[in-house]
Amino acid sequence: MKNIGIIGVGGLAEKLVVGLRRQGFSLPVHLSPRGYERSSSLSKLEACVIMGSNQAVVESSDVILLCVPARAIDQLAKEITVRQGQIVISAVAGVGHDRLERLFPGATCVRVLLSFSDQHSRAISVLWPEDEGCTHLLSMLGRVLAVSGEREFELATVAACMSGWFLFLMHDLHEWLVDNGLCPSQAHQLVVSNFQDSISMAASIPSSNLRALGEQASTPGTFSAKGLNVLRHQQVSAPWGAACEVVLDALLNRM
Ligand SMILES: NC(=O)c1ccc[n+]([C@@H]2O[C@H](COP(=O)([O-])OP(=O)(O)OC[C@H]3O[C@@H](n4cnc5c(N)ncnc54)[C@H](OP(=O)(O)O)[C@@H]3O)[C@@H](O)[C@H]2O)c1
Repeated sequence: MKNIGIIGVGGLAEKLVVGLRRQGFSLPVHLSPRGYERSSSLSKLEACVIMGSNQAVVESSDVILLCVPARAIDQLAKEITVRQGQIVISAVAGVGHDRLERLFPGATCVRVLLSFSDQHSRAISVLWPEDEGCTHLLSMLGRVLAVSGEREFELATVAACMSGWFLFLMHDLHEWLVDNGLCPSQAHQLVVSNFQDSISMAASIPSSNLRALGEQASTPGTFSAKGLNVLRHQQVSAPWGAACEVVLDALLNRM
């Protein structure tokens, strides 16, 4: 296990530090000085060390985690010099691997997509290219998925966006129930528990069987099938596909 340095102490870095500490990561965590309020709260609550500069983070850490906004990455690269072979893990969305290698020459660059969950087994981090040390570190947060290429990594980023979209779908279905007379708290419980049922069923079967599982829950003649026919007639999957395409396109063109 290696000590880590985080450059860019915002919302993501905070979740990362709390997640690692909760899972027993006890080595030093060095933080960049910007975002002082958050850094100082992490230094008190999670035993982190605030460094005087980004370069000081690099010099005192074995592994560097980049959690700055994409727009800050060029400026950051001018400020720091990494050691030959030093591992730089980038959580910065939309900044491709080739660009990272150009910005941080000599470093071993790895891209990650982090996820957090209250339950260790539910969180899933994605990384590319595969790296043993990085996998070991991220496995403290939950499962680690090493994808086979950068396009696959960006597809995983699209999948991460879906979790936000699901919330809007849940909101809309909740609103329909409320508009039709159910009290908000009961509508909330029903929408969430029905989503949870679908998730537990889906998690327990191979991906090739998802459609069959859906058909089983909507056999012909049922009320569920009646509604499904409307969704299919209105091609309800089409806008979801379009949203995925737009995000993938933006990610691939920004790298
Ligand atoms: N699941 C994931 O893997 C995931 C999820 C969310 C976000 N991300 C990515 O993670 C990155 C951070 O997201 P976030 O939500 O944590 O953003 P955020 O809350 O805006 O935090 C970014 C932090 O970086 C600091 N910063 C900016 N330029 C810097 C520099 N040159 N040196 C040191 N610190 C600098 C900012 O300081 P100031 O406030 O002073 O500017 C801020 O504290 C983004 O690139 C985003 O794409 C990944």
